[in-house]
Amino acid sequence: MGSSRRFHIRTYGCQMNQHDTEKVSNLLHHAGWRQAAEDADADLLLINTCSIREKAEHRLYSDLGLLRDWKSAASGRLVGVGGCVAQQEGDAILRRFPQVDFVFGTHNVRLVPELVAAAESGRRQVRREEVRDLSRFDLPERHPDWQGVTPGRAFVTVMEGCDMFCSFCIVPRTRGREISRPAAAIVAEAQELAARGVREITLLGQTVNAYGRHAVRRGHDDVGFAALLRRIAGIPGIERIRYTSPHPIFFDEDLCRAHGELENLCPHVHLPLQSGSDAVLARMRRRHDAEAYLRVVEALRHARPDVAITTDLIVGFPGESDADFRETLRVVDEVGFVDGYSFKYSPRPETVAAGDPDRVDPDVAQERLAALQERLRALTLAAHRARVGGRTQILIEGESRRGGQVMGRDPWHRVVNAATGAAPPQPGQVAPVRIVEATPHSLIGQLEVKETPEIADGRETEGCRPRGAGSPTGTFPL
Ligand code: SAH
Ligand code: SF4
Ligand code: F3S
Repeated sequence: MGSSRRFHIRTYGCQMNQHDTEKVSNLLHHAGWRQAAEDADADLLLINTCSIREKAEHRLYSDLGLLRDWKSAASGRLVGVGGCVAQQEGDAILRRFPQVDFVFGTHNVRLVPELVAAAESGRRQVRREEVRDLSRFDLPERHPDWQGVTPGRAFVTVMEGCDMFCSFCIVPRTRGREISRPAAAIVAEAQELAARGVREITLLGQTVNAYGRHAVRRGHDDVGFAALLRRIAGIPGIERIRYTSPHPIFFDEDLCRAHGELENLCPHVHLPLQSGSDAVLARMRRRHDAEAYLRVVEALRHARPDVAITTDLIVGFPGESDADFRETLRVVDEVGFVDGYSFKYSPRPETVAAGDPDRVDPDVAQERLAALQERLRALTLAAHRARVGGRTQILIEGESRRGGQVMGRDPWHRVVNAATGAAPPQPGQVAPVRIVEATPHSLIGQLEVKETPEIADGRETEGCRPRGAGSPTGTFPL
């Protein structure tokens, strides 16, 4: 394999997919490949797919249609398909699309260099076997030429797979059974990242706060999610810790308390609600009702009064009535989400809800989506307006789309755009900012000039630290 060979990866879906793309990219670097800026410069194109809704799956098929020309424009070009659609469809992708050279499932990321080498000698294949042990997490260290998405930030997988089987969701089928990595391996990875200058770590898992409930307890270590957070919080250099996505039923007292105690645990929780109707939640098999969800929110706010709660919601789930939808709006208002993603229900293969004939009329679902999005937009704007005049710190991600500004996120995970002077802070640096304006999608800030703007020490500006946090008492039954 010549060292000048270049690859490009298109990534759809969630952060777990983005992180898998990073893993593949690192493996390819170790195998002598280098990253191409775009398709036109690439010899190898990988599509890392998402299957969460029908539309996401169809992106693959439209991409593959367009790729026929790309492939025939130069000899030796290769196409690989990975991710959740690859796991779901496997052989069917190779059969239907002659332009595809190989398919790799969600547990087979490690095999990509091998699959590429086989494809170079003309062997088309699918590898998507479920790997039930921890070996799939044994990956090489970061290649010196490889950079993560943003300097200063990194993902760390703590668990993968899902045993929840919500009735609408394909993820248990595409990511397999739940498995947690040993705490020692996670802590070692976080330490290595911190040593390389990473300041913000996002812990990943399909139900990330269920961490440790199965495999880890059986042998490797005996650590639950809150204890894992405490270990990572103690690593010098880690200034911000985030995690996604938690499930409401796995919030215990210890985890809520951690939000009040750990200075570097960010005051933001993305907590999927899905629906505010108890009847719909039961048919979704979410294993909690609206009341239990509200209790988690209350416990989090008790521990960390300024915590920003964001969510995911589905409208048009089979059998959802107007009254059910009104319940969703009611709970949305009651929580006061700072932001939310909302989706129209999309039937997915081999899920329980897909067999429910009680479909909601698509026009009704569309109206509900529009009404919900309007409500969420109003809540976001109100939350943003409440921040004007305050101070925060942003971890710079890069140039803002607005031009002449830098973009970063604050501890509450809000996007902040800030005008720069002659020496703009670089991606990966933390800069103090004063909020001067609120828009529906972001905050506008002014960089505060300091002697050492890249080292905000968190004592002079608001960072990931509890402000006036009370100490939680008692338990909240879930
Ligand atoms: N693991 C996360 C969810 C991951 S999927 C959790 O348990 O909360 C991200 C979001 O996509 C879900 O929260 C849900 O709101 C949405 N989603 C999943 N399946 C869907 C479907 N079939 N139709 C519409 N939205 C769906
Ligand atoms: Fe899907 Fe439910 Fe698992 Fe989340 S908890 S990944 S929604 S099955
Ligand atoms: Fe999509 Fe798979 Fe993530 S279905 S949302 S890429 S786990």
